Amino acid sequence: MERKPVFPQLAEIIHGGDYNPEQWLDRPDILEEDIRLMKEAGINCATLGVFSWSVYEPEEGEYHFEWLVQIMDNLYQNGIYTILATPSGARPAWLDEKYPEAMRVDEYGVRNHHGFRHNHCMSSPVYQQKVETIIRKLTEQVKGHPGLILWHISNEFGGECYCPLCRERFQGYLSERFDGDIHKLNHAWWNTFWSHNYNRFDQIEPPYSNGERSNMGLNLEWKRFTTWNMNEYMKFEIGILRSLTPEIPVTTNFMQLYWGLDYRVMAKELDVVSWDAYPRFHNDRETFYETMEQNAFDHAVMRGMKRNTPFMLMESAPGLVNWQEYNKLKRPGVHQLFGMQALACGSDTVQYFQFRKGRGSFEQYHGAVVDHLGTNDTRIFKETAALGQNLKKLSQIAGSLVRAKAALLFDWDNMWAIADMKGLSDYTKNYVPVCHSFYREFLRMGVDMDVIASDDDLTEYDLVVAPMLYMLRPGAAGNLQAFVKRGGQLLATYLTGYVDETTLCFLGGFPGEGLSELFGVVSEEIDTLYPADRNMVRFSDGSRAQVKDYAEILRVKDAECLAVYEEDFYRETPAVTVRRHGKGAAYYVGARIEIESLRGIFGRMAEDAGITTKKLPLGVEYHKREADGQCYEFYLNNTEESQEIAGVDGENLLGSRMAGETLTLGRYEAAVFVSRQADY
Ligand code: GLA
Ligand code: ZN
Repeated sequence: MERKPVFPQLAEIIHGGDYNPEQWLDRPDILEEDIRLMKEAGINCATLGVFSWSVYEPEEGEYHFEWLVQIMDNLYQNGIYTILATPSGARPAWLDEKYPEAMRVDEYGVRNHHGFRHNHCMSSPVYQQKVETIIRKLTEQVKGHPGLILWHISNEFGGECYCPLCRERFQGYLSERFDGDIHKLNHAWWNTFWSHNYNRFDQIEPPYSNGERSNMGLNLEWKRFTTWNMNEYMKFEIGILRSLTPEIPVTTNFMQLYWGLDYRVMAKELDVVSWDAYPRFHNDRETFYETMEQNAFDHAVMRGMKRNTPFMLMESAPGLVNWQEYNKLKRPGVHQLFGMQALACGSDTVQYFQFRKGRGSFEQYHGAVVDHLGTNDTRIFKETAALGQNLKKLSQIAGSLVRAKAALLFDWDNMWAIADMKGLSDYTKNYVPVCHSFYREFLRMGVDMDVIASDDDLTEYDLVVAPMLYMLRPGAAGNLQAFVKRGGQLLATYLTGYVDETTLCFLGGFPGEGLSELFGVVSEEIDTLYPADRNMVRFSDGSRAQVKDYAEILRVKDAECLAVYEEDFYRETPAVTVRRHGKGAAYYVGARIEIESLRGIFGRMAEDAGITTKKLPLGVEYHKREADGQCYEFYLNNTEESQEIAGVDGENLLGSRMAGETLTLGRYEAAVFVSRQADY
């Protein structure tokens, strides 16, 4: 597999972040100092212009780009590249004053006032027209600039708009989706219930807070519409940029599993996926390594959206953030470790929000590489500079890829459908934490997993877990059947295959769409337990484990029983099963069983899938990237104690402590080794 660096001009790992010189134009001394400090911190890239509209265009039609070009020139002359944002993330006051229809309408149907950011209607023609003008003017200034390597579209797209224009677009979207046939929509949404039948598409309203919120099909389509509309808007910006600067790739910065948008739809329009990571480090509800494991999951989501190219860590906080419930400092060493984790998981960049702390307003206390103190002599600056030095030693990693053989299936619309279903308990559905727990178990076995969609191509994978796949997208069931048929190891859980993509229940037994044949079981009932309730399961080897929250009562048609319930009226009935199909296997875990008790099954699945596992101390994370016959192995010590790992070899890129083949990692230390791939 060939190395494919995202930015061939750099041939190194990008180290940088958001830089807002427009806040300091009256301080040339500071702007000069910034360049010096960037170089000292090993920064080779700055993200400019994220919210610069009111400086670019202080009055309608009056433009000022001289400062930007001068800064880009200075940066470039000092070896620092520019990622340039389009300024559409926040609008100047004159725009909202003159064109109030550009502002968003909330879920009660009330128009917002000017302010904050991301307060614009994506459907608004006047907003789009103003954006197009500013993008064209901006591009004229920077086109062909040797420092410009990437367009950053707007910033962290999000939110919804309930204005009349968006309502109309929603109706048009629905009409298209249901072939202009209102009866089709009525059937798909089961609208005869509570007399919900519509006569025409133009009667349908978005789910206003004081309106129709009880229709699962409508709620789900509204979420899909919001993604579609946002994506149409994003495509509009991308279209302008591609026509003017076709050689410059585009991205937009995502936010983990952001609730409001199905990022997979948007990722298709981008050249590279990028995201902003702000874990709650050192919190009081989990261990530090659990926080890191969850962040690795988020990296795997980003990686899974474009598997043939590295992704970017576009933002992260040097030191601390200012918007979490408790804004705790990252402890010494975590900065380095967190940056290394991004690389380990397939990122080609480590970037921050932000380079220099502003003096005022909303983010004045948000961490930055350069603090209000203004010097290089701070803990954060020194840690950033130390990471910068290590990233230089790892330049050869740029363009290599994580090649996971295992995947976890996660769908945004499944997340929406589970949350909105009326049933079970609203307090314990926990779809995302359950996905985390499965991912984590494989990570602890040293197995890299991509997080992908249920209808994604599975040909590269030999092991797939699909927790709580409640809603089956079209093609998902066939995808899983084909996977097992060609020898894949599949595991699904309770709450699989209850509804189709419009949230209509399958008839004839869950899991639907032929999956009950694949697993050899039918789920007849699902028991929702109170928080203090417990059941137990007993595995064939006699080991026992607790069940909480959910337990399905299964009818086994044609499967081997691996565990039975021990208590209640369904005691001694199957709780975990497997149906083998030649080399392939379909495991069904019918209850929320302590995840640790499934390790035996996970190990067997990995073995049958031909995936090598590793014995790692708890809290040590392992990943592998590959390119051009080289293999890069990462070990991260996500604990406060030093850890020893045996059987490590290869060239030691960071000069980590070795005794023979035993690696010793101090608290929060990371190590990287390169070796020739055996099979190359
Ligand atoms: C987001 C935004 C940035 C900044 C940071 C603060 O990621 O994109 O502009 O507000 O949060 O953490
Ligand atoms: Zn709108």
